[in-house]
Amino acid sequence: MPMSSTDFLSAKVERRKLSMVTCYDYTFARLLSKSAIDGILVGDSAAMVMHGHPSTLSASVELMRLHTEAVVRGAAGKFVVADMPFLSFRKGLAAALDAACALMTAGANAVKIEGVDGHEDVVQRLVQSGIPVMGHLGLQPQSVQAYGGFRVQGRSGCAALNIARQATALEELGAFAIVLECVPADLALQISEALRIPAIGIGAGAGCDGQILVLQDLLGLTMDFKPRFARPFVNGAGCVLDALARFDVAVKAGTFPTAEESYS
Ligand code: KIV
Repeated sequence: MPMSSTDFLSAKVERRKLSMVTCYDYTFARLLSKSAIDGILVGDSAAMVMHGHPSTLSASVELMRLHTEAVVRGAAGKFVVADMPFLSFRKGLAAALDAACALMTAGANAVKIEGVDGHEDVVQRLVQSGIPVMGHLGLQPQSVQAYGGFRVQGRSGCAALNIARQATALEELGAFAIVLECVPADLALQISEALRIPAIGIGAGAGCDGQILVLQDLLGLTMDFKPRFARPFVNGAGCVLDALARFDVAVKAGTFPTAEESYS
């Protein structure tokens, strides 16, 4: 049975850890559909990972819609969450509903929204409209300019309290889960224990109710920025470079293609 947002809540009750990864394209979505991964996030990190932008600020609703459609086509039976991109939920309720509509009609099962202060009405209206909402607290990449870089959040007592308060607010507004990004492990544990909804961590320690990673980081395909939490579970870049080198050698040596690889 495909996951649903209510299964996230059951997993929390049953103390089952949830696994999520990002995905932006059909080919990887097909592979993910054959895995046991619980959920897929079409993250606005697509702007960085797929398009080479320095931050997620370049993601638009149209870009997210196209990536969501591609992932949904490949990810049969998987629970797909799509990111509401930069400012798409800060331009008033009608614009936020239009953005969410674009992502949900592209096939997403839920949307993710960074922060909560100042757009409580959007979260509430989406939930009331039958759209499962995932929150995103701690390091909110769409606020990178305000932080002055991708930095761990919630280190001071005051900042920690602020994140915990927002987590409770999201739960009260009806979010079915939150992502906690780059916060100290003890704060993430405290928040996870206090919430009824699951907290999915990334750079937030082992105490969360689940973990999410960017797929390209997990596969060891990311060659530039490597945060400490982004464990590569395979040397993907090495495998790809090795395959390319062997192709190059075979072409130049005339050993590819063979007769079997050619048409008579
Ligand atoms: O866009 C993204 O990849 C994310 C993850 C970091 C959770 O929001």
